[in-house]
Amino acid sequence: MLLKQQAWLRQKLLVLGSLAVGSLLYLVARVGSLDRLQPICPIEGRVSGAHNQAEFPLRALQFKRGLLHEFRKGNSSKEQVPLHDLVQQLPKAIIIGVRKGGTRALLEMLNLHPAVVKASQEIHFFDNDENYAKGIDWYRKKMPFSYPQQITIEKSPAYFITEEVPERIYKMNSSIKLLIIVREPTTRAISDYTQVLEGKERKNKTYYKFEKLAIDPNTCEVNTKYKAVRTSIYTKHLERWLKYFPIEQFHVVDGDRLITEPLPELQLVEKFLNLPPRISQYNLYFNATRGFYCLRFNIIFNKCLAGSKGRIHPEVDPSVITKLRKFFHPFNQKFYQITGRTLNWP
Ligand code: A3P
Repeated sequence: MLLKQQAWLRQKLLVLGSLAVGSLLYLVARVGSLDRLQPICPIEGRVSGAHNQAEFPLRALQFKRGLLHEFRKGNSSKEQVPLHDLVQQLPKAIIIGVRKGGTRALLEMLNLHPAVVKASQEIHFFDNDENYAKGIDWYRKKMPFSYPQQITIEKSPAYFITEEVPERIYKMNSSIKLLIIVREPTTRAISDYTQVLEGKERKNKTYYKFEKLAIDPNTCEVNTKYKAVRTSIYTKHLERWLKYFPIEQFHVVDGDRLITEPLPELQLVEKFLNLPPRISQYNLYFNATRGFYCLRFNIIFNKCLAGSKGRIHPEVDPSVITKLRKFFHPFNQKFYQITGRTLNWP
């Protein structure tokens, strides 16, 4: 009788145990997959009054709160940072470009740092007249909530090439830090073209071949009227910025190296932003299926960038590539000279 009862009890415990383990595994998988789908979840209606419109990455902040303790270790006590300390701060650093340079990857990777909070969307405040007319408070309210010790970073790649932007940013904060991520100019131009081509294909439209756009058929020279070419003349755009900001306020990120070897590039940015080094190899893992590095926040949360990052480029006539590289060469030399960063592009 006793043996029967013991067996019955064992069986019950086994069932309860498997149920508990099953639920736990389900929760872990669900939270993990949600994070991949929605790394930041705006929670509407939970924040009162003026905060309603703002992005409120609660889960991300809870995660960051944990990291913030780590970040502060040794500096001060480990007291809890109350949620009511959260504020929407203007950015202390902006990724101003360059389009297709790896701006999204850079922003997401910097966001691994406990002291950095990213504005998820491209805000286009300084390059869009309509937005700019809404005023600086509108811009601030577009920023995520953060703790006063953290820094907010936004990225809008159109800033780099838009005439009015340097002056407008200067008026907001003349000592702001500016990040420019660049790739080898011809590759960047092809990447730019690929994005536009994909947009056309999605709408069932046809589009010119890259060669036709990049080379003027009348002169057989590089077509400098083509936007993808002009954007890659980095030095021309940078010179406009230098009318407002000294070169020390810029940091050039090597976008080609960020693809293959992200950590050293991120460490240089941490240094430039005067942040203690906190991003480690643990936070970055190579995903063979994606062919890119992905982000690991902790044992549960990881994510790769969306499929729109890392498109396959169309094949381009090698003679056109050679012509473009020759065209960009003197501009690149000037860019290295001004920025003090030599990138050894062909
Ligand atoms: P391609 O699509 O040409 O490969 P941006 O975010 O400025 O639009 O830049 C997009 C580029 O970021 C992609 O260009 C891709 O090569 C690059 N990139 C860099 N690191 C990446 C990463 N970890 N995952 C996906 N794309 C990355």
